[in-house]
Amino acid sequence: MLLAPMSPAGMSAIFTGRRTYDLTGGWGGEQPLGDAPVFVVTHSPPATVPAGRTSFTFVDGVRAAVEQARHAAGDKDVSVIGGASIARQCMIAGLLDEIQIHLTPAIPGQGIRLIDDLDGNEISAMQTRVLEAPGVTHLRYRVVR
Ligand SMILES: NC(=O)c1ccc[n+]([C@@H]2O[C@H](COP(=O)([O-])OP(=O)(O)OC[C@H]3O[C@@H](n4cnc5c(N)ncnc54)[C@H](OP(=O)(O)O)[C@@H]3O)[C@@H](O)[C@H]2O)c1
Repeated sequence: MLLAPMSPAGMSAIFTGRRTYDLTGGWGGEQPLGDAPVFVVTHSPPATVPAGRTSFTFVDGVRAAVEQARHAAGDKDVSVIGGASIARQCMIAGLLDEIQIHLTPAIPGQGIRLIDDLDGNEISAMQTRVLEAPGVTHLRYRVVR
């Protein structure tokens, strides 16, 4: 399972949080990374979803949502569109195989930390790619178990 995909290649299901879903308005029913179904973790599913080609499934609990997304993805990857809360929960649960960070030089001065209080779980990762582009550096790490 990946965190923060850079491209849809090899990806076949998306996992995200309810706040991200709400902020994007369910991407207007058409998530922008292709045809992959979207699994949204929430304690209370919405009554309706936007009409469009994307299928949305609302699941209570990170592990349960990941299991359903994995089933839908088959032998392809599940991508996490995080959301610090989701990312942190996935890290603690040991659900991530790869972490992709798209680093920009904007410092907002506040916000939720991506990596904070991992319940004592230490994560080892191996850097597998650094890609520089104007205004952004794309970083990729493989989680080492
Ligand atoms: N940089 C990026 O790549 C990127 C990507 C996506 C989003 N973002 C940003 O990240 C922010 C959103 O992230 P966020 O961390 O605030 O929220 P989020 O992860 O999108 O959603 C949090 C919500 O997910 C549900 N949830 C979380 N854990 C759950 C669990 N274990 N069981 C059931 N439901 C659970 C809860 O919804 P309910 O309250 O409905 O239960 C919770 O309020 C936004 O600012 C967005 O712009 C950044």
